[in-house]
Amino acid sequence: FAMNLSLASAEEFPTFDQLQPSAELPALLIDEAGKPITTAEAWSKKRDTLKAQFQHWMYGRLPPKPAQVKYETLFTDEKALGGKATVREIRISFVEPALSKRQHVLLVTPNGVEKPGVFIGMNFCGNHTVLPDTKIALPEGWVGKGCVGVENERATDAGRGAQTEVWNAELIVSRGYALATFYSGDIDPDTPDLADGIGPAFYKPGQTAAEGDDAGTIALWAWGFHRVADLVTTEFKDTIDASKIASVGHSRNGKTALLAAAMDDRFSIAIPSQAGCGGTAPSRGKVGEQVKQINKNFPHWFCDNFLLFNEHPDLLPFDQHALVAICAPRAVLFANAEEDTWANPMGQFEVLQAAEPVFKLLGTSGLAEAKEPVMNQLVGGRLGFFYRPGKHSMSTTDWTAYLDFADQQWK
Ligand code: GCU
Repeated sequence: FAMNLSLASAEEFPTFDQLQPSAELPALLIDEAGKPITTAEAWSKKRDTLKAQFQHWMYGRLPPKPAQVKYETLFTDEKALGGKATVREIRISFVEPALSKRQHVLLVTPNGVEKPGVFIGMNFCGNHTVLPDTKIALPEGWVGKGCVGVENERATDAGRGAQTEVWNAELIVSRGYALATFYSGDIDPDTPDLADGIGPAFYKPGQTAAEGDDAGTIALWAWGFHRVADLVTTEFKDTIDASKIASVGHSRNGKTALLAAAMDDRFSIAIPSQAGCGGTAPSRGKVGEQVKQINKNFPHWFCDNFLLFNEHPDLLPFDQHALVAICAPRAVLFANAEEDTWANPMGQFEVLQAAEPVFKLLGTSGLAEAKEPVMNQLVGGRLGFFYRPGKHSMSTTDWTAYLDFADQQWK
C-alpha cells in the first residue's frame, strides 16, 4: 500500500521562523505574490495552497482513501419509526490498508421519498444511542464516561436511545431527508493516545508516535466522514442523492464536520454546531477558548505542528475563515447558542463575514443581507448563521434550522 504522495511535501512550506505575524484575519483574495485575486481560477490555486497549509500546520494530513473496503449490511428494518423509515446498519471493514478498526454506519432513510439528501453526522456515544432499536450494535471499543450507560469505558444496553433527541432521526425523515451517522471512536477513540485509533497505520516504517504534520484526531475523524460519503455514493447511489450530502456535528464533532467538507467537494453543505476554537471561531483574538488551552486540554485533536502556535496564533498563515472559504461556493451554516460563550459566537459571525468575499467572487449570495446574528432566526444566504438562547448542545430547535437551511440550499 503506497502512502498518499499527492499532497504538497514539506519543502513547499516555509519554516515556522519564516512565518510573518498578522493581527487581523489574513486577507483571502491576495495571492502568494501579494497580488489581488479577481478570478475563480486564481482563487482555485490559493485554495489548494490553503488546503495543504491547514493540514500541515493545524490538523495534520488526512490519510488517503483506502484502496479496498468491505461493506456488510448487519440488518435492515424497512418498517422503522412507525413505518416511516428504513433503518440499516452497515459495517465498513478496511481491507487495503488492513485496519483493525471497523466503522459502523447507521443509515436512516425516509420511506416513500425517492433519492433523499443525506446528513452525514458523527456521534459522540455510539449508534445505539441514536435510536432505541436493540438490533443496533454497541461500539466495539472505548466510549467516554460522559455517555449514558457507559461502564468501564464500554457501552452497555443502558445507553440505547439516549441521544434520540440529539439526532432527531424522526424529524429528519419527516422532512424528507436521510441520516447516516457513525461513532467517532470507530475511527479514533477521543483519548490523548493516538495509538488506539487508525492513525498509526499511516506512520512511516519504524515510527511509533505522531509527529509534525501526522494526522491528529480531528483529521482522522474527517477521514471517517469521507468513508461514509464513499458508502452513500457507491453502495447506496440508487437510494441517496449524491448531490445532496451535508456534514453535521456538534462541538469537537462540528470542527470535524467543517474540515471534512472543506477537504471533500462531495459535501454540498457543512453544518458545524457550536464548534468554536479550532473549528468555526477565529484562532486569533482573546474571546473564548484559546489555541494554547485547546492544545493543552486536548493534545491529540490537532497535529504536533499546531503546538508551535500556542503563544502566537497570529503567526498562522490562515484563520478559520479560510476553511469556510475553501468550501465555497458550497453552503456553510454555523449554529450557535447564546450561553456558549466558550465557542465565541460573535467571533464566528466575523469568520463568515471574512469568508464572504470568496463566496461573492464565485457568484453566490454569501451572507446575503445578514449583518449580525438574530436570536431564534436563520439568517444569511449560502453562508448561514443560526443563533438561539441556551447552552452548549444540539437540539430539536437546532435541527429545525439545519433542515430549513437544507431546504433553501438543495431546492
Ligand atoms: C471542550 C473544548 C471545545 C469543544 C468542546 C466539545 O469544551 O474546549 O473546544 O468544542 O469540548 O467538543 O464539546
